[in-house]
Amino acid sequence: NGSIITIPVVVHVIYRTSNENISDAQIQSQIDVLNEDFRRTNADADNAWSQAADMEIQFCLASVDENGNATTGITRKSSTRTSWGTNDAMKSSAQGGVDAWDTSQYLNMWVCNIGGGILGYAQFPGGSASTDGVVMGPQYFGSSAKGSGFYLSSPFDLGRTTTHEVGHFLNLRHIWGDSNCGNDFVADTPTHQTSNGGCPIGQVSCGSTDMVQNYMDYTNDSCMNLFTQGQKDRMRAVLAAGGVRRSL
Ligand code: ARG
Ligand code: ZN
Ligand code: CA
Repeated sequence: NGSIITIPVVVHVIYRTSNENISDAQIQSQIDVLNEDFRRTNADADNAWSQAADMEIQFCLASVDENGNATTGITRKSSTRTSWGTNDAMKSSAQGGVDAWDTSQYLNMWVCNIGGGILGYAQFPGGSASTDGVVMGPQYFGSSAKGSGFYLSSPFDLGRTTTHEVGHFLNLRHIWGDSNCGNDFVADTPTHQTSNGGCPIGQVSCGSTDMVQNYMDYTNDSCMNLFTQGQKDRMRAVLAAGGVRRSL
């Protein structure tokens, strides 16, 4: 805690349809959402939970590529593939995808149609370098509150899927611990029986009120507005000296 960390991002857009080839403006709207959510400057932040905190983590599109050349921080590739699944094929040029940029220097984001109703997925710290990063469907990447004409799908159209996936990338678990009243290894988040959908404010489970506003639940984008101090400590530990993501 105490200093602001800025993480350089490269966004790899892999598209078949023109809708899937989302605009630079839609991509920038997602970067803006990440910066607001991780600095708790999001307009929908409320005072429902006193442990809500500013993560002091920021994101910027990379301005220099792996070879030291100027870049927009966005790559684009046309493909005939209709859906990519969750086996990391989009991260491999040999499989028709796009190889990661040096994962010790950049947070790689692939934007492609995953299929199967999956909004996004992430790799936790400590996994294989070549597949490190986050993947989101194009219709869940960006915010309809920050522009018009974007290709986005309500109620997941406010950029919170990427906020959630970057939470995983920085070592956060789901708030329900992926089991019945499970453990997310964060002391200041209440134990949840299971995931919540929609926005059931006031829901009680495992003996306490659920924190349905947490980015690591499964509620609608418009329901979520916070990470906690305990989640901050966990994320910043992997970025600190000795942490697996310190080089970012
Ligand atoms: N299914 C995804 C995951 O577990 C993310 C869900 C994001 N939720 C949202 N409201 N945008 O990683
Ligand atoms: Zn998740
Ligand atoms: Ca907890």
